Amino acid sequence: MCGIVAYQGPHDARQRILEGLKYLEYRGYDSWGIAVRSETGVLNRVRNTGEIGSVSMADLKLSQARDGIGHTRWATHGGVTVKNAHPHFSMNKKVVLVQNGIVENYGALKKNLEKKGYVFLSETDTEVIANTIEEYRKKHPLKEAVRRTMKDLEGRNAIVVMEQGSQEIIAARNGSPLIVGVAPHEVFIASDIPAFIAYTNTVYYLDDGQMVCVKDARPEFFSLSNGSHVARRKITVDIKAKDAEKGDYAHYMIKEIMEQKETTRRAVEQDEQQLKKVADMIDHAYGSFLVGCGSAAAVCKLGEYVFAKIGNRHINAVEASEFKHFSGFLTPRSLMIVVSQSGETADVIEAIETAKKKKVKVIGILNNTSSTIARLADYVFPIHAGPERAVASTKAVTAQYAVMTLLAYAVRGDIAEGKRLLVEVAGQMNDLLNPRYGQYVKKIAKMLVRQEHVYILGRGVNVPIAKESSIKLQEISYIHAESFAAGELKHGPLALITKKTPVIVLTGNDGDTIDIISNAKEVQARGGVIIGIGPHKHEVFDYWLHVPDVGELSYMVNVLPIQLLAYNLGILKGNNPDKPRNLAKSVTVK
Ligand code: M6R
Repeated sequence: MCGIVAYQGPHDARQRILEGLKYLEYRGYDSWGIAVRSETGVLNRVRNTGEIGSVSMADLKLSQARDGIGHTRWATHGGVTVKNAHPHFSMNKKVVLVQNGIVENYGALKKNLEKKGYVFLSETDTEVIANTIEEYRKKHPLKEAVRRTMKDLEGRNAIVVMEQGSQEIIAARNGSPLIVGVAPHEVFIASDIPAFIAYTNTVYYLDDGQMVCVKDARPEFFSLSNGSHVARRKITVDIKAKDAEKGDYAHYMIKEIMEQKETTRRAVEQDEQQLKKVADMIDHAYGSFLVGCGSAAAVCKLGEYVFAKIGNRHINAVEASEFKHFSGFLTPRSLMIVVSQSGETADVIEAIETAKKKKVKVIGILNNTSSTIARLADYVFPIHAGPERAVASTKAVTAQYAVMTLLAYAVRGDIAEGKRLLVEVAGQMNDLLNPRYGQYVKKIAKMLVRQEHVYILGRGVNVPIAKESSIKLQEISYIHAESFAAGELKHGPLALITKKTPVIVLTGNDGDTIDIISNAKEVQARGGVIIGIGPHKHEVFDYWLHVPDVGELSYMVNVLPIQLLAYNLGILKGNNPDKPRNLAKSVTVK
């Protein structure tokens, strides 16, 4: 959450930072701000509420500069106001900084500073960092003041700092990502690479417990624990600027939905030796867990089913935020399989840290292979989905389903069959990702657009797809969408069904079909309107969204009409499907 960009170099810092922040808007879009340092060392700042996407250079009202820092915010401490927007000055206005993360002990630090006479202008934890630096600065050079401040902070964060009159930019990382991009005579620091990929693909990754000082457009790296020099390796990343663009599509979400035929096919490109090795580890493990958040948690739940059905293994799926309640069951014989698109999700990182303390091996099913989680995991299966910029996860989810399925087939000892089936499914996705199908989904969206509630039912492998469907509909349409295992209906939720309540029923061509159709009939008998998704039309369906018959892998295709439905509902309701209210793409706070 929150995006940071800093720049030092011969070009206009305002333009580089503004452009970079626009690429990071997926990390938060409550408010934004930029501070630059003039040739004479004077700090100037502009901040505002709202999205930075539509801000132009003329709106900035800042004079040209060679270095600066910027921020796009997802509010944690303090409401969405200009006063709470970053960058924050210290009390004497000599230190200015941006933060991505949370200072958990900010209350205690603030009290101490207040006793020393500091006055705070915002409700944020970030202003506390700025004033702590100012306080240390009375006795120490800036770099040492930043280092000592970082050691005082509890929680996960990353900061970038500038000081009036100096020529340095200093950044430090403890739990939130920071990447340093270098081009001839210029340096970028950002929360994610797309912020500067148009200018360079040469980067240094900052690790937790490290800081970087940029002077004369040259970065130098230091340890936060003792301030000593650390060596960092320069890496060339394989990300192309155009992959992060939306091209001719109206939104990233629809572009990413449409890419799924290719991304599903790419997801099966896994290192066979590693698949076999991890499959063997799964076979011999005891007390293993699948861990993720949000849509990735629903992928983990699907993993629970596919490992049971295909691999004949029991693995527990737990939401990362709840994992600590089960961590007592970890032993060195356990495995942890984590699923994450961004690779930066705070709750997942915390679960991994717990696992590592117990000597548990961690396997990551990840999109961002240079992320924090990728570097913490012992084995990484890249899902190869390419940059996913819409907050709602679509192509990453289906790629994660594919990798999970392949891993289950590897446990069964039949990787070739898993690949064959998945490649076939990827081809059949074409039937759903075309304008004609899109028009039909739109009609259903028009029928649903005024509804306040919609329920989604599934059985077996479609229970986690029902969960994923509820997440997609909630975040894009803002309709109350809730999923149930269909068999649970008459144990309570059936009481919610009245005349014309819309109920989406996910079906396949498998052993669960007869039962779920009976459940649909029970709903219809109470006035519910049934929107069936599946390969075959059943009499009970009032509306039918056809999907190809892919046998046991129905989850791979059933989610596509839901993604399209959510997108169309969002558009019909005038929502921005790429930026759902209150959310951010990368959830780096607990
Ligand atoms: O980056 P991650 O996969 O770890 O993110 C996990 C969730 O925050 C994410 O899936 C979220 O639920 C999406 N907005 C769902 O579309």
